[in-house]
Amino acid sequence: SVVPLIDPYQRAITYLRISVTDRCDLRCVYCMAEEMNFLPKRDLLTLEELDRVCGVFIERGVRKLRITGGEPLVRRDIMHLFRRLSRHLGSGALDELTLTTNGTQLGRFAAELADLGVKRVNVSLDTLDPDKFRAVTRRGDLKVVLDGIETARRAGLKVKINAVALKGVNEDEIADMMAWAHSDGMDLTLIEVMPLGEVEGDRTEQFLPLSVARARLESRYTLTPLPDRTGGPARYVRVAETGGRLGFITPLTHNFCESCNRVRLTCTGKLYMCLGQEDAADLRAALRASPDNGLVTDAILEAITRKPKGHDFVIERARPAAVPRHMSVTGG
Ligand code: GTP
Ligand code: 5AD
Ligand code: SF4
Repeated sequence: SVVPLIDPYQRAITYLRISVTDRCDLRCVYCMAEEMNFLPKRDLLTLEELDRVCGVFIERGVRKLRITGGEPLVRRDIMHLFRRLSRHLGSGALDELTLTTNGTQLGRFAAELADLGVKRVNVSLDTLDPDKFRAVTRRGDLKVVLDGIETARRAGLKVKINAVALKGVNEDEIADMMAWAHSDGMDLTLIEVMPLGEVEGDRTEQFLPLSVARARLESRYTLTPLPDRTGGPARYVRVAETGGRLGFITPLTHNFCESCNRVRLTCTGKLYMCLGQEDAADLRAALRASPDNGLVTDAILEAITRKPKGHDFVIERARPAAVPRHMSVTGG
C-alpha cells in the first residue's frame, strides 16, 4: 500500500496541480501584462516528462491531478497527456483528473475529456457582460466561452465557474452571476485577487475582500455554510433561494493554509510547495539526469520536507507583487 507524502506540519499531500503551459489566448488584466515574454519551448517539460512525473506523484499517494496553465488547452497535443494520465483513473490509483480552463477551447475538447474520465472542469469567467469580458481578458469573446461551457455540459462534464472578484469591475454583477450559474446547476466560486506577478493594474485597487461581497449577498440571500470541502481551498455555502452552491476562496482575508493538501508543478518542472512562497525544487533536472525515476522521487521527498506553513500575502504588498512569477507559470 502507498505511504502518502506528509509535510512537516502533518499535512498529507494528495493533490498535485500542474501548469502545462505559461501561454494563454487571453490576457486577463489581473493575471498577465499586455506584453508577456513566454518561455521558449525547450524550457518546458515534454508531455512524456509530465506523464512521468505525475506517475511518480501517484506512486507516492497523490489522488487528484488538476491540469492548469496558462490555458492548458492551448498546449500543443495536450489530449495526448490526458490520454496517458487517464490510465490512472482506470487502475483506481487516481480519484480525479481535472482541469482549470478559460473555456475558449472547450468546444473542441470537451467531448474527448469526458470520454477520458474527466468528470468536472473549472471554468474561469469573471463577468457575463460581453464588453466587460473583452475589457478584463483584453481579447476574449464571451460567446465563445459560453458556447464552450454549453458543449461541456452537453458532454456530461460538471462545470464550476471561478470568478475573481474585482472592485469596480464585476462587484455589481456577483448576484447575477450566481443566479445564472445556479439556474444551470453550476457552482460558482469567488476568488480574492492575489499579488502574483507584475501587471499594469494596481491590485490594491482591484482587491475586493470577499467578506464585503458576502455581506452584500446576505442582505438578499440566505447563505448556509456547508461542511464539505472538495479538497480545494474553497469554503462553500448553500444558497437557499437558488438551491445552488457558492464557494469563497479567500487567501487574503481568511487564510486556508492549515488544511493545504497540495503542491504545484510549473510548466518548466519546478515544484513549488506553496503558491505564495519562492522555494521550489527543480524536478526537470532530476527527470533529465536519468531515465530512472529514483532521482525525481528523491527530489520530491526532499522538497516535501521543506513545505512551508503557508503564504504571507498581504494586499498592501501588491506592488511590487509579493511573488514575482505570474499565476500562469505556477497554475494557482
Ligand atoms: P476544486 O477541486 O474544485 O476545489 O478546485 P480548486 O479550488 O482546488 O481549484 P481551482 O483551479 O478552481 O482553484 C481556483 C483558484 O484557487 C486558483 O486559481 C487559485 O487562485 C486559488 N488557489 C488554489 N489553490 C491555492 C492555494 O494552495 N493557495 C492559494 N493561495 N490559492 C489557491
Ligand atoms: N489572483 C487570483 N486569481 C488569479 N487568477 C489568475 N491570476 C490571479 C491572481 N493574481 C485566477 C484565474 C483563474 C485561475 C487559474 O487563477 O482567474 O480562475
Ligand atoms: Fe489566461 Fe486564465 Fe490568466 Fe486569464 S486568468 S490570462 S484566462 S491564464
